[in-house]
Amino acid sequence: MANDTNVTWHEHQVSRSDREAMKGHKGCVVWFTGLSGSGKSTLANTLDHRLHGHRIHSAVLDGDNVRHALNAGPKMLCATHGDEFAERFGLGFSAIDREENIRRIGAVAQLFSQAGIIALTAFISPYRRDRDRVRATMGPDEFIEVFVDTPIEICEQRDPKGLYKKARAGEIKGFTGIDDPYEPPLSPELTLHAGQKSPGELIDEVMKYLLERDIIS
Ligand code: PPS
Repeated sequence: MANDTNVTWHEHQVSRSDREAMKGHKGCVVWFTGLSGSGKSTLANTLDHRLHGHRIHSAVLDGDNVRHALNAGPKMLCATHGDEFAERFGLGFSAIDREENIRRIGAVAQLFSQAGIIALTAFISPYRRDRDRVRATMGPDEFIEVFVDTPIEICEQRDPKGLYKKARAGEIKGFTGIDDPYEPPLSPELTLHAGQKSPGELIDEVMKYLLERDIIS
């Protein structure tokens, strides 16, 4: 259907269910959210490995990596595209940049899901409204929000990249959990207590959920 944007949506010849039938599992988005250092990337990678072992097609999208390319920051873009472009399209950590980061990732994750892939996203995604907007673009069982509920004391103790230390010293402004908010999900599909169990045990819980929902068999 055409509209006043002059942009038209095209249906593809190979449907989502054709792709899912070929793969033998459904596509969906498993959306890990939690503080920096909470264990999101480790869990997404552990799940990816587990699914791969079962010949299930999955892919990980994670904050640090995606911010190297698709959602690169102004400094990175400046080197290749110049100042004006970098200022306009580079993403940092202000509220509006995080909002755009999550919007783009939501759209990419949905493309993966529509292609019959289980997209595993590991972004802080600190604002509830941004996560809920992504959810609203997807089908009923397509968006599985997984709250990686690791207390900030543990994240700060781990501090794998030394970022909490820098934030406490005032060298990073607007650091999530220190001087920028983290809004936990109100009704996530799953909550994982990453400080209390091993990644393998936590991923057992996610696998159980995917089986119960007939996303995998
Ligand atoms: S967000 O909030 O969802 O847009 O963030 P995300 O894309 O997941 O990127 C988080 C990683 O960026 C690093 N980093 C920061 N995190 C939070 N606040 C600030 N100000 C910040 N600056 C840099 C940090 O390494 C995060 O990685 P993880 O894997 O979450 O520890």
